Amino acid sequence: MTNSDVTPKKPSLSRTVFTELMMPHQVNNLGHVFGGEVLSMVDRAAAVAAMRHAGRACVTVSIDRVDFKEPIYTGELVTCVARVNFVGRSSMEIGVRVEAENLLSGVKRHTNTCLLTFVAIDESHRPCSVPPLDVSDPQDERLSHDGRRRREVREALDRELEAEDS
Ligand SMILES: CC(C)(COP(=O)(O)OP(=O)(O)OC[C@H]1O[C@@H](n2cnc3c(N)ncnc32)[C@H](O)[C@@H]1OP(=O)(O)O)[C@@H](O)C(=O)NCCC(=O)NCCS
Repeated sequence: MTNSDVTPKKPSLSRTVFTELMMPHQVNNLGHVFGGEVLSMVDRAAAVAAMRHAGRACVTVSIDRVDFKEPIYTGELVTCVARVNFVGRSSMEIGVRVEAENLLSGVKRHTNTCLLTFVAIDESHRPCSVPPLDVSDPQDERLSHDGRRRREVREALDRELEAEDS
């Protein structure tokens, strides 16, 4: 694995905000914005946060969890806020919070939360190491701890299922 910069970076340096007005072609016949539209925006916002942290090209390796809490309607302004939660060697867990704003009432609703994993790649498209995360802030430390635990639990479950199957 090729080396990258080893200077720790704060999550705030790679925080990314995407905003888009939802148009009629993005909704289903109930007037709800398609899940895939939201996912596309989430993936792009998360990719930018990952690349800002890594200073390299990054690819989505996994979308761990997407909770659709409430529908989003045409005419609402959708904002995705992406941040790096946890950094491994070449991988990064990115958390994305999605809010929908009714522009007439000004009311904002938290509609989705997504967790994605990105991998930084080199010129040969092989994984390469990324800078560590500076988690000196207690909130950043808590989010990083949660990301590490999710990874440990996922890997333990993968091992367990593999052992059952063999
Ligand atoms: C991403 C890719 C380069 C990784 O290659 P690989 O040979 O699986 O790499 P490794 O097994 O060494 O894993 C690299 C890292 O990814 C992590 N990873 C691999 N699969 C994962 C998964 N399903 N979920 C979460 N993390 C995963 C590993 O834990 C490792 O993390 P670390 O470096 O922080 O320890 C390769 O799988 C790929 O090219 N995938 C296609 C990506 C793509 O096209 N995405 C959609 C468009 S952007």
